[in-house]
Amino acid sequence: MKFMSANLDNLRKLYVDELQHLHSAETQITKALPKMIEKASDPQLKQALETHLQETRGHVARLEQILQNSVGEVDSKKCKGIAALIGEGEDVITDASDEAVRDAGIIAAAQKVEHYEMASYGTVRTFAEILGQTQEADLLERTLDEEKHADAVLTQISDSANTRADKAA
Ligand SMILES: [Fe+2]
Repeated sequence: MKFMSANLDNLRKLYVDELQHLHSAETQITKALPKMIEKASDPQLKQALETHLQETRGHVARLEQILQNSVGEVDSKKCKGIAALIGEGEDVITDASDEAVRDAGIIAAAQKVEHYEMASYGTVRTFAEILGQTQEADLLERTLDEEKHADAVLTQISDSANTRADKAA
């Protein structure tokens, strides 16, 4: 076994490890969203991203509460998956020369992030249930519901945004 490995030999350790990665993911998202908001043109899209930025700050706070309770400290482990998705989103923002196409690209990037988060929160919510951490499972479920809602709002906005993008010269 390599030195300094996480030594994940039980479900509780895996649960904490996943929470630490999620803390990193959410923190990265709070830094990425303001740029996406600035570059979005559709006022509805800007508003939806702004609302989700506020929610995301709440998601960080919930994770900190859970980590503080279960391990006594808030330790973050870099989430490489979200870093890659954010990087792709930044590329699309840079490469899109039409603002409607850029909006469609921002929605695509944001929905990829939402789905990554939905998968992750579904997993940790279930781990919390198995481990008998009912309160933690409830908190994680609330975040999961907010991620699902954010994703549904983006799908709604994409209707008109994609149509506008399709008309771009
Ligand atoms: Fe989130």
